Amino acid sequence: MRALRINFCTRRKQVLLLLCCLVFLYGYKLHVENEVQFNFIHINTNEKCEIPKVNPFDESILPFFWKPDPIVCPENTELVYIDDDEMIHINKNRTKGKHIECYYQSVIRKQQSDDDILFGTSVWFNVSRSAMMESDFAKVVCVFEGKNIYERLHYHIKKKQKYVESDNDSFSVLIFGVDSMSRLAAIRELPKTLKYLEKTLGAYVFNGYTKVGGNSYPNLMALLTGNFSVPFNKKKFFDNQPFVWKKFSERGAATMYSEDYPRLSTFNYLTRGFNESPGDHYLRPFYLGINSEKKYQAKITKIFMTLEDKDITLGGTSALCYGDNPKHVIQIDYFKRFLNKYKNNRKFAMSWLNEIGHDFVNFLKLGDADFYNFLVFLKEGGHLKRSILFFMSDHGTMIDKIRNTPIGRIEAKLPFFSIVLPTILRQKYPHLDQNLQTNINRLTSPLDLHKTLIDIATNRYNHHPKDTEAIQNRGISLFNEIPKDRTCADAHIPESSCACYTSEAIPTNNAVIEKITSSVVVTINTYLQTHRSKCALLTLKKIHEAKLIHSNLKHSKPGRKKAIWQYLYKPKLDKKQRYFILFEVMPSEGIFEVTTEITQTNNFIILDKIIRSNRYGNQSACIDDRDLKPYCYCK
Ligand SMILES: *[C@@H]1O[C@H](CO)[C@@H](O)[C@H](O)[C@H]1NC(C)=O
Ligand SMILES: *[C@@H]1O[C@H](CO)[C@@H](O)[C@H](O)[C@H]1NC(C)=O
Ligand SMILES: *[C@@H]1O[C@H](CO)[C@@H](O)[C@H](O)[C@H]1NC(C)=O
Ligand SMILES: *[C@@H]1O[C@H](CO)[C@@H](O)[C@H](O)[C@H]1NC(C)=O
Ligand SMILES: *[C@@H]1O[C@H](CO)[C@@H](O)[C@H](O)[C@H]1NC(C)=O
Repeated sequence: MRALRINFCTRRKQVLLLLCCLVFLYGYKLHVENEVQFNFIHINTNEKCEIPKVNPFDESILPFFWKPDPIVCPENTELVYIDDDEMIHINKNRTKGKHIECYYQSVIRKQQSDDDILFGTSVWFNVSRSAMMESDFAKVVCVFEGKNIYERLHYHIKKKQKYVESDNDSFSVLIFGVDSMSRLAAIRELPKTLKYLEKTLGAYVFNGYTKVGGNSYPNLMALLTGNFSVPFNKKKFFDNQPFVWKKFSERGAATMYSEDYPRLSTFNYLTRGFNESPGDHYLRPFYLGINSEKKYQAKITKIFMTLEDKDITLGGTSALCYGDNPKHVIQIDYFKRFLNKYKNNRKFAMSWLNEIGHDFVNFLKLGDADFYNFLVFLKEGGHLKRSILFFMSDHGTMIDKIRNTPIGRIEAKLPFFSIVLPTILRQKYPHLDQNLQTNINRLTSPLDLHKTLIDIATNRYNHHPKDTEAIQNRGISLFNEIPKDRTCADAHIPESSCACYTSEAIPTNNAVIEKITSSVVVTINTYLQTHRSKCALLTLKKIHEAKLIHSNLKHSKPGRKKAIWQYLYKPKLDKKQRYFILFEVMPSEGIFEVTTEITQTNNFIILDKIIRSNRYGNQSACIDDRDLKPYCYCK
């Protein structure tokens, strides 16, 4: 699709205005259409969970998948900057020798409110005299010959009292969340980030991590407090809830909580938010400051974004910018400054990006390069040495059209979730690696993540290698082995969130199964081609088990509230045929699991990876490739 850029600054203003109105209405129409959706619920949450595997590039969803133009922000015109010593300076390179004077006003949270801010008293500075910043955020105004020539919000991290140093036993938590990003969406939209995450950082990417509720609120409550059924209340603040960052704070860690999109942020949408700042550093006042500065901008951003989702950019620059930068870059930068300031301290930091992924799933792609750069910064800057990183989401897209396809329905329930462990931790407690390897293919949820965070806060890593906690526990630490037979009911995942497939055993001597299995063995041998001189050629020994896999979701008819489209459209149902096969090969006696899907041309594709389900020990000691080790049998 070719991009259409409409510039306001041309002569034929009236024609343009009309055109703009039409385009705007078109945007509104698209915005409404995007919300077509049907509810599907799970019919039996007491059944053993087969982790759903679906093709991220299935033809039914390809029409929704395209590449938006890069974000274009205005040229960098920042007149001031804040250095590492917390001083604010005029950038002499940009004043062209003019006699400019500036003042800043700190952005201050108002008492008893999470929605209002005040601007502090003016502190003047000029080219020869810089000023000390008094808080994290400030509105800066610059004056030249009596006229305001510059007004913008700036941020940094104003270091607070001393926190404990991190050591080899007490680790930090870094959560980098991207709202509304399913695992499949991450595969489609963030190829660069994911490759680095898996290959270089050795992340565990969870295939069965399932949401526990519809939107961000229950899912973030589950991970932060272990309870997703706390009703929200317009009159009450959230301060008294047992947020896990308190456990870190009590132990001397520096904390940060940052979320963009202030209107929709998790603890503020239709609620009262926090009375006291929920972290030592809290980004919300910065965004409130932006909105107080540009009142109308905030209201129409959504429509502008709808248009951008169709590659139409009004005004030539993106609604995803603030000043010279995409907003997600500002948020990442704030996180980086926090990490640099508290480099040697224990930390709990949580950054949650809403705007980029919330409404339009393809915009996620616009973050790929920046997320990748952030991960590189974390690694190269040594920030992962004593920190456990969670790069994750809360649920899949809720309001994009993709939700109306069988694949979209499944993926909406399975958010992206990954963990990166520091090397020292992995070396000191080898069972963590073993258990996490196992758990990536088990049914897990934010309640399990909550238990994991508590383990980290309390330095608990000495789980017995095979220590499976009681199956019905409300959350099981991911450092333990999650039981294989776990059901959604066991995991406290409600029927509206459960995506588990169901399986039916079928005879293993079925011709289709035999044909598929032989072909999968050929595939494994192809993976090993480059190591042919070292790894033995594998042959099929036996098919142990074959199952027909199908979706367990059923269309739930709307109740009283019926929208017009529910009469006009019928939901598409899942008619795909999928098989699970467990087979053994020679000479390694390796047992593998594979899930395949029959294609329209009566061929098949392998969904996800072929998983080795018995131990390969040192069978593959002759090769180093982490991905291929499970398959190779050294000659
Ligand atoms: C000003 O320009 C010089 C030379 O290009 C550069 O080294 C310096 O970092 C710039 N200063 C700022 C604050 O951008
Ligand atoms: C900067 O401000 C200080 C204090 O107000 C003043 O003494 C000084 O002359 C100013 N310098 C310039 C270059 O304006
Ligand atoms: C922490 O572990 C690293 C790597 O094992 C080691 O080099 C370092 O001396 C340890 N530091 C402390 C304080 O024990
Ligand atoms: C969750 O919070 C609700 C309301 O505060 C309470 O009734 C419920 O017992 C809590 N559940 C758990 C498991 O703590
Ligand atoms: C492989 O492991 C077994 C026992 O686990 C051990 O006896 C054997 O020496 C190992 N072989 C190599 C090549 O390391």
